[in-house]
Amino acid sequence: MKRIITFGTFDVFHVGHVNILKRARDLGDQLIVGISSDALNYSKKQRYPIYSQEDRVEIISSLRFVDEVFIEESLEKKLDYIKNNQADVLVMGDDWEGKFDWVKTQCDVVYLPRTPSISTTEIIEIVRKIK
Ligand code: CTP
Repeated sequence: MKRIITFGTFDVFHVGHVNILKRARDLGDQLIVGISSDALNYSKKQRYPIYSQEDRVEIISSLRFVDEVFIEESLEKKLDYIKNNQADVLVMGDDWEGKFDWVKTQCDVVYLPRTPSISTTEIIEIVRKIK
């Protein structure tokens, strides 16, 4: 049984999110997703997500290729989350290339290419411009 773990905000859910989660799940048997809390997002980006953490959990846990979800409260706890969830592989988008190599003591780390031309930030900007 190979357990895959990934992390993200997954705000304003889009096809880039679907693609990375499906490809992550295909690397093993179970996919666990750590969803950044509203507070963690605020501390990283100085803005709250559009969707609340409860709604983001609801959306991600409804996907057939996601087996378990939890709220990620702190970036420093990555290693604990990986250990507690008995994950064998950490998957991240390649916007994070190299940034999680330090957890290789605990599990394999795979960076997958991002889906081109779509992001939550871009969607928010486009919607803001529509009058
Ligand atoms: N992701 C992806 N392809 C995209 C957008 C995101 O593969 N086009 C991946 C990221 O690499 C990450 C996961 O989806 O592993 C969650 O990313 P998140 O930061 O929540 O989404 P973004 O759309 O990148 O959000 P933002 O624009 O706010 O950074």
